Amino acid sequence: MASVTSLSDSVQQRLAAALSAALPDADSTDPLLRRSDRADFQANGILALAKKAKANPRELATEVVSQVVTGDVIEDIEVSGPGFLNIAVGDGAITRNLAERYADETDRLGVPYAPAPGTTVIDYAQPNVAKEMHVGHLRSAVIGDAVVQILEFTGENVVRRHHIGDWGTQFGMLIQYLDEHPHELDHKAGADAAVSGEEAMSNLDRLYKAARKHFDSDDEFKTRARRRVVDLQAGEPHTLAMWQKFVDESKIYFFSVFEKLDMEIRDPDIVGESGYNEMLAETCRLLEESGVAVRSEGALCVFFDDVKGPDGKPVPLIVQKSDGGYGYAATDLSAIRDRVFNLKADTLLYVVDARQSLHFRMVFETARRAGWLNEDVKAQQLAFGTVLGKDGKPFKTREGETVRLVDLLDEAIDRATSVVREKAEKVGLTEEEIVENGRFVGIGAVKYADLSTSAVRDYKFDLDQMVSLNGDTSVYLQYAYARIQSILRKAGEARPAAHPELPLAPAERALGLHLDQFAETIREVAATYEPHKLAAYLYQLAALLTAFYDQCPVLKADTPEQRANRLFLVDLTARTLHRGMSLLGIRTPERL
Ligand code: ARG
Repeated sequence: MASVTSLSDSVQQRLAAALSAALPDADSTDPLLRRSDRADFQANGILALAKKAKANPRELATEVVSQVVTGDVIEDIEVSGPGFLNIAVGDGAITRNLAERYADETDRLGVPYAPAPGTTVIDYAQPNVAKEMHVGHLRSAVIGDAVVQILEFTGENVVRRHHIGDWGTQFGMLIQYLDEHPHELDHKAGADAAVSGEEAMSNLDRLYKAARKHFDSDDEFKTRARRRVVDLQAGEPHTLAMWQKFVDESKIYFFSVFEKLDMEIRDPDIVGESGYNEMLAETCRLLEESGVAVRSEGALCVFFDDVKGPDGKPVPLIVQKSDGGYGYAATDLSAIRDRVFNLKADTLLYVVDARQSLHFRMVFETARRAGWLNEDVKAQQLAFGTVLGKDGKPFKTREGETVRLVDLLDEAIDRATSVVREKAEKVGLTEEEIVENGRFVGIGAVKYADLSTSAVRDYKFDLDQMVSLNGDTSVYLQYAYARIQSILRKAGEARPAAHPELPLAPAERALGLHLDQFAETIREVAATYEPHKLAAYLYQLAALLTAFYDQCPVLKADTPEQRANRLFLVDLTARTLHRGMSLLGIRTPERL
């Protein structure tokens, strides 16, 4: 079943039809419909169309009005100003449309599938082997996961790639150290006890620090470590096996963090930097042969007119170093070839810190010159800003170290659990439910705080604010959802019937029209990759629901029909909240 057309789409179609009748020769007849404070909708497109057709805008608008059939969807339409159209829809039309959506078994809530879905490869959640995850990795994971869910909901074919940092010279040092201290990665627990992610990380961290110390203070060790890099790159089996140990151990840790984040990351989607090793030489050859890259002081470089250092000299993208080594850029260029030619992507997304924007700008431009990216295959970095502490400075511990992501998450869960506990008795939650809800609220709070501001902006990590019950927080939305569930339980009606014959109170109308906007919101968010607009939509939905409660009694409505109609409205609101939150990776507990 095709999904239910939203009211705004119906209005749009009717206006476009009236416009083509009035302007039979025009090639485009977009009425440019938008929501408005003055009417339910406003169409602003007449002015431009009139100009193009050399017609008088007010006359054209009047003509369009006369062509529009009113009564079923459009109740009232009038010309305003120099040639705008103000449009009101009928109460019955609002209820009827929402009721159709309510009855739709596909539960798409009026959101259509994209007419021509493509294949998007999205690069996100890419921590580094043998290193702690920090808040930067949190942002990539949270934003990336939301974009994945939203795109998949529109029918896009999405391939996930976790480009983990699992290659580089530091592995020479780590492997050499482990070879000389073979038991450093052994687990304390009994042989059959599962290793916890935390334990895996603490071993790696200890080993990393010890190896680094040796490397910095012992020249002979340094030499041995450098030789190990050569062995690793040559694929020497023993060295490779040890490298694999670091990767496996780190994955145990990554998976434990992703699980805490309530996020599904699949092993086959983890294709780290090392996954492109076989392609690097070929990538360089292609770039050099085509002249996109040139040799400069022994290194293979790509130059850009607009990328210059402070001294005014051009700063190239180095694809191959003069010693023959390949770096981050060669890997990313090879990954582009893989994603475009093997995975058949038409869109490449990179959810990566804004501090890497110059790198991606140069990599994308290089790929364009090489013909790997073009009009049909586009690449875009979804750059995100820095996470700041309460003081507005980059988030650090008091000792000046980067904050461990797990510590932050644990603290968020702790705080959230106390918030949940405070109300638990009244709601009658069991201890088990308190613990579970504490996790959902805590993790939801962290995700929502990240997703509710535009990604490129820096944001303050402020747990007090994040778990606050008032304001633009996930807890506020989760309570809105749980409150509806409580009302529905009390009402005890499985599927309350909608009553389109009833007039709507202003608060009902506002809620209904906002529900109608879900499809538009998803369409926009999927086109712009801006999950914060979905967060804003949901917050507004919860706020309209609060206003509705204030003005419209539900269980104590005047008539049984009105009661049913209001129950239907809040149930649809709950389903929309649930769907929207789940697209953001946030749970909505039934009882809170
Ligand atoms: N591992 C990198 C980091 O922690 C992010 C990788 C981004 N993706 C990419 N294709 N370069 O900064």
